[in-house]
Amino acid sequence: MPSSEQNKQKRGLWSSRFGFVMASAGSAVGLGNIWKFPYITGMHGGGAFVLFYICCILIVGIPIMLGEMVLGRHTRKNPVGAFKSLKGGPWTVVGWLGVITGFVILSYYCVVAGWAVDYLWLALRGTFTSQHAATVPELFTELLLSDLSQLFWQAVFMAAVIGIVLGGVSKGLERANKVMMPILFLILVFLAGYGVFSPGGPAALRFLFSPDWSKLDPLSMLEALGQALFSLSLGMGAMLTYGSYADEKTNLPTAAFTVSLMDSCVALLAGIAIFPIVFTYGMQPAGGPGLVFKTLPMVFSQMPAGSLFAALFFLLLVFAALTSGISLLEVVVSYYCDEQKWSRPKATLLIGLLIFLLGVPSALSNGLLKDISFIGNRNFLDSIDFLASNYLLPLGGLLIAVFTGWVLTTRVARSEIEKGAVRFHFYPVWHFLIKYIAPVLVAIVFLHLIGLF
Ligand code: TRP
Repeated sequence: MPSSEQNKQKRGLWSSRFGFVMASAGSAVGLGNIWKFPYITGMHGGGAFVLFYICCILIVGIPIMLGEMVLGRHTRKNPVGAFKSLKGGPWTVVGWLGVITGFVILSYYCVVAGWAVDYLWLALRGTFTSQHAATVPELFTELLLSDLSQLFWQAVFMAAVIGIVLGGVSKGLERANKVMMPILFLILVFLAGYGVFSPGGPAALRFLFSPDWSKLDPLSMLEALGQALFSLSLGMGAMLTYGSYADEKTNLPTAAFTVSLMDSCVALLAGIAIFPIVFTYGMQPAGGPGLVFKTLPMVFSQMPAGSLFAALFFLLLVFAALTSGISLLEVVVSYYCDEQKWSRPKATLLIGLLIFLLGVPSALSNGLLKDISFIGNRNFLDSIDFLASNYLLPLGGLLIAVFTGWVLTTRVARSEIEKGAVRFHFYPVWHFLIKYIAPVLVAIVFLHLIGLF
């Protein structure tokens, strides 16, 4: 066996193309789709925001996703190794930025995912239905004030992520995704179906799909683009790492398109599941980040079979968060396995523990550390989220687009994409988008977010 062949097998490969697409979709579909997309859509007025978001996915998201997958499969490496072997020098920093961003995002992602696990537990015990609707939002306040519960649920979630990543690429990541993603999809379709036929259904569909362009201001446009990057897991080499485990015959353009389509469908379905409930019970669509943890449970407490719906919904949220959490950990683990030659168990356990520890201040940010503010009056969790989503990810996305469009030669990119008898007729379109459109749009968002524009 040639040594590159051995190296490939040692690193791991997806056992099937279906497995690769499911795992990538699992990474993309997460708290960003089910928790964040509905509430920011609510805050930015619905229809027009949704349409603009879809445009961002098409002209910026899909091109960058394909770019990441190409870089990963071509080098068969983690982000640092990939940039080092393709160009080296300052470009290696892009890989480093990705590994650090994965570390940072997962640290607080686990805390928010922990809230979802706590809510699943509450739903299973029938807590929402056994009390008066008006007292339900207090459950969230109580949770945020309890350092111990948050640490406990954060640890439970992190342990699950570590357990899956320990299993390796095909036995851990792929298997978990192949089980959880279809279940997630079924639950969501069921909840969306219920929503459409409930009294608030028509109002919700109108809110989501009939655009009122006067509501689309520059700020919402920027928010939509940032959300598209976060939701598709772009900008830190997660898709690069997953692409590095794809076999030669995988059609990467089709995979990038399918994953983006699934991600957008899940976000829209989450909206179709949540807004009818909001309208049926006369709540405000612009309820903000508490939409999923305060508004919805209040509604579950009044609904027939509310405990069942609540349990299904939070199970969905936990699954979505898990499949994203494992992709974040995998990026960091792949770096330590490839570059530092650590064994997978050692890398997974050690890095998992470190990330858990970095997440501790996030878990304490509403309790013990509530009086300490970091970036612009935000508590620790909000600061670190702000730092990661507004600085690290857009910067990473921008650099990856520039690298793929300007540094990677057409010969390398095209032959990588067209390996395994794949014909990519849209190559010129993709190349144009990733060379000019994506970098310019992401640069605008980035400059605006850091307040320079
Ligand atoms: N896309 C996931 C979500 O929507 C979060 C996520 C997972 C992510 N891996 C990522 C975001 C890598 C950016 C980069 O919740």
